[in-house]
Amino acid sequence: MEDEKTLAAARRTHGCGQLTVDQIGQDVVLMGWVQRRRDHGGVIFLDLRDRSGLVQAVLSPDRQPGAFEASQGVRHEYVVAVRGQVSRRPEGTVNPHMSTGEIEILVSEIDILNTSKTPPFYPGEAMDVDEAIRLRYRYLDLRRPEMWEVFTYRHRASMTIREFLDSKGFLEVETPMLTRSTPEGARDYLVPSRVYPGYFFALPQSPQLFKQILMVAGFERYFQFARCFRDEDLRADRQPEFTQIDMEMSFINEDEIMELTEEMLAVLFKKLLGQEVRRPVTRMTYRDAMAGYGSDKPDLRLGMKITDITEFAGKTSCQVFSGAVQAGGVVRGIRVPGAGSLSRRELDELAKLATGWGAKGLAWFVLGESEIRSPLAKLFQNEELQELVSRLDGLPGDLLLFMADREPVVSSVLGQLRLELGERFKLADPDQFSFVWITEFPLFEYNDTEKRFEAMHHPFTAPRSEDLHLLETVPDQVRARAYDIVLNGTEIGGGSIRNHRRDVQDRLFKAIGLAPEEIDQKFGYLLDALDYGAPPHGGIAFGFDRMIMLMLQRETIRDVIAFPKTQSSTCLMTGAPAPVAPKQLDELKIACTLSKKNGGR
Ligand code: AMO
Ligand code: AMP
Repeated sequence: MEDEKTLAAARRTHGCGQLTVDQIGQDVVLMGWVQRRRDHGGVIFLDLRDRSGLVQAVLSPDRQPGAFEASQGVRHEYVVAVRGQVSRRPEGTVNPHMSTGEIEILVSEIDILNTSKTPPFYPGEAMDVDEAIRLRYRYLDLRRPEMWEVFTYRHRASMTIREFLDSKGFLEVETPMLTRSTPEGARDYLVPSRVYPGYFFALPQSPQLFKQILMVAGFERYFQFARCFRDEDLRADRQPEFTQIDMEMSFINEDEIMELTEEMLAVLFKKLLGQEVRRPVTRMTYRDAMAGYGSDKPDLRLGMKITDITEFAGKTSCQVFSGAVQAGGVVRGIRVPGAGSLSRRELDELAKLATGWGAKGLAWFVLGESEIRSPLAKLFQNEELQELVSRLDGLPGDLLLFMADREPVVSSVLGQLRLELGERFKLADPDQFSFVWITEFPLFEYNDTEKRFEAMHHPFTAPRSEDLHLLETVPDQVRARAYDIVLNGTEIGGGSIRNHRRDVQDRLFKAIGLAPEEIDQKFGYLLDALDYGAPPHGGIAFGFDRMIMLMLQRETIRDVIAFPKTQSSTCLMTGAPAPVAPKQLDELKIACTLSKKNGGR
């Protein structure tokens, strides 16, 4: 067009990566970043990159001296526009590693749209750049095509889920960020109110109470891609702000919620990974998970189920075992297939790890073709040793590990050993997706520091009706109508059926030691709502970042969040958190009691 005479104002005709032999002979206008510039004695090659891919642009002094001259000043990561003709690459210069490798652009005009400083790292080159540098210059890091793939994937996943939930009659509703504390077990992020000095909003740890109130309002099926904020110690799969696929439904039971969300996962995994999710997903009670895997989020790919041999061990001549059983403990073991090759030193290290985790000791048995190697072997009768092996289905070449102690210690240490050995022997197939529901969680767990019971999931979770009568007498025996879903050893979702009746909710608050005034002050609005015809309801929330991390086989959720925080909860790019102007603090009537001297930043 007439008004598009200058290249900078011209219309871009194609994406760099879209060009193929089909466009040979066509004039095109491309815009993008210079990934590489090579000066081949008189001819300049630019690798031009945009979101669609890479293409090679060629500038020669003979063809267009002006353009050639202009490209002399071009450096890495400059933003340029080029006009040129798509042409077949000369014989022998075809690049089979590039989707546009059969063609190149013979440039007739180039315009530098913007320059770039020499970047601290080149987005185009796969390299081991320190994560702190990548986070500081996140915009350069995000310029890497692998990153676009992650976010394209994440986008497709959220679109697929939205479409699925829409087809099932769910409404997406936004809930407030400035709200009251919603207890999910972490500390709150607080936002001071200027209008009411000394008063604070809390950022939601989840939209839990709002979604329940939407059920009271008759919405019946709610979902939201909800941002949640939790001030807690960070790990590879934990961020202070993260995204949940949050759902709530009325007139529903546990089975229906599990079936519906399994279908959602099946659709998602089929569409994004081409993988079938085997349905129904295995269900395991909390009790069985703890006994069999020493964890409420077992990675079933590892095998190595924990076997209890307490009864038999109590009768053996080995004092380490029988003594522990007499003292009321248990003896349990795991079979590590093929780990009989570990050296004595490695086995001692393993035992040291176990004692570090609180074990009194670790008994190991290496199974040879005909002999059994173990420091404890001589303490057993021969038939006892054979029985020990057969109880765990041991085979030559295996390693058997046993622990005798109080039940919780044995469970937890063998659980940790399973993970350690799984890692060491690469027992988990990275391409396998192993889901499991954990059900029948205890409603409460005992907080030893505060000497009181607290809700294991959250205090709005309903007890199982058959356990309700135990609420006031033996609260630790009450099971909850709660469920978690675990994928390859990571909890990706959790939810429960809620208390829709006020009397039950009141009893539950009392059981966790909340005084009536405190209940009223913190959750009065929920209890009020329950008084106005609350339907039975329940729901679940999936950790969306965690799901994407696992689907893409990444090590940390930082890799699938555009602007994540560091392990120490800071943003290296923006420098948040940061001090604020004294005037702002004055307006909020806030004074900081911390000086640099006693620990301030
Ligand atoms: P819950 O606290 O179990 O349940 O959270 C649901 C899921 O969110 C993910 N998740 C996290 N992901 C990243 N960083 C974090 N810090 C983080 N914390 C949790 C996990 C977890 O399974 N309101 C209830 C749900 C309900 O009852 O419906 C809730 O928030 O994958
Ligand atoms: P000790 O009697 O402490 O010298 O331990 C002898 C062997 O038994 C060592 O290999 C210990 O690791 C192992 N052992 C000791 N206590 C336990 C225990 N509670 N459970 C399993 N093995 C143990």
